[in-house]
Amino acid sequence: MERTLVFLKPESVMRGLVGEILSKFEKKGFTIVGLKMVWLSREKAEELYEMHKGKHFFEELVNHVTSGPVVAMALEGPNAISVVRNMIGKTDPAEAGPGTIRGDYGLTVTKNVIHASDSPENAERELRIFFEDGELYEYSKPTESRYLL
Ligand code: RTP
Ligand code: MG
Repeated sequence: MERTLVFLKPESVMRGLVGEILSKFEKKGFTIVGLKMVWLSREKAEELYEMHKGKHFFEELVNHVTSGPVVAMALEGPNAISVVRNMIGKTDPAEAGPGTIRGDYGLTVTKNVIHASDSPENAERELRIFFEDGELYEYSKPTESRYLL
């Protein structure tokens, strides 16, 4: 089963959106296999966004995601990476469709509410930035096989 890394950016914590957004992933049917609040160091944030180093928005992005705690989660489910990317919507909330998380809760591109991995390679890399081996759990929800999959 595919896993992806999602984190709710500091504005989601500050605005009290954590429960509502988490609930969307639960209702969609994903299994939460890891969950924690983290205040990212500058080093970890730069590692997380290393592919954007040198871009004009890099400093602003790193400053923002280190400005307060984030809530990270590892989500498991069929095609988790692409399904979650579709749920969060386009990078710029002004272009993200209604019903998507960024479309419903965001206004500007830096404070776009949520991050999600965009490929299997990045999911693996990002999961390791946030979670130690023993912090991701293998389990099946009792309802899963009969009612969902
Ligand atoms: P993310 O990595 O956070 O899930 O977002 P994404 O894949 O949709 O977008 P990406 O291109 O990876 O950009 C990473 C984050 O950088 C900020 N950004 N600012 N000012 C700008 O033009 C700009 N472009 C991107 C956004 O916060 C974006 O989520
Ligand atoms: Mg990205």
